[in-house]
Amino acid sequence: MATKSALETQLAVVAGFEEPRADLEQYPTPPELAAHVVHIADLNGDVEDRLVVDLGTGTGMLALGAALRGPARVVGVDIDRSALLTAVRNRRRVGTRTPIDWVHADATRAPLCSDRRTTILMNPPFGAQRGNEHADRAFLETAASIADVSYSVHNAGSREFVESFASDRGGEVTHAFQATFALERQFDFHEADSEEIDAEVYRIEWSGRADGE
Ligand SMILES: C[S@@+](CC[C@H](N)C(=O)[O-])C[C@H]1O[C@@H](n2cnc3c(N)ncnc32)[C@H](O)[C@@H]1O
Repeated sequence: MATKSALETQLAVVAGFEEPRADLEQYPTPPELAAHVVHIADLNGDVEDRLVVDLGTGTGMLALGAALRGPARVVGVDIDRSALLTAVRNRRRVGTRTPIDWVHADATRAPLCSDRRTTILMNPPFGAQRGNEHADRAFLETAASIADVSYSVHNAGSREFVESFASDRGGEVTHAFQATFALERQFDFHEADSEEIDAEVYRIEWSGRADGE
């Protein structure tokens, strides 16, 4: 298996959002965080030969990271068409041959159903900026209904919420880790050129897929 730092280097070519929308929380997942999440998922056997779905794929960062690690197929879902066009261009930059479908849809009502073992990787909107705490809840609902396992990035302080959400749906948090990353200035309301963001990543095993697998 290639190293995490090799994956981070491969993902460094991924371009950011051309016209980022604050209402959709279009912050790119930094390559170091994306490489970290994908590498851990790969070490856990959650990428190779699987269907990997990136909900809120944006620039395609997590989808492309997964595509470099031998999945059967990758699906990137985003509600914003122009973000998906960026993801398509990023795919060419990264140069993977893995089949990838870019799906223009609401990830909270994702039109997806597969009998393949399915892993979700996602960095959903946090909702914190709009006072809409746990906007990530609806993304976790989708994970619970279509995935065997998910990896999701949340803002700091989400542990209690994520654990109780998972257990209410017959899921279990099996791994958790903290990550700090720099968010570059993107929107007028950002006061600093760069801000340190404390995030948390959770691996959840789900048992309640609709097909009963
Ligand atoms: C924090 S960004 C993550 C971006 C991505 N991981 C990347 O590195 O570019 C959240 C993404 O979720 C998308 N999004 C927000 N609400 C959505 C929804 N209801 N359905 C699908 N995508 C949505 C946004 O357009 C944005 O691309």
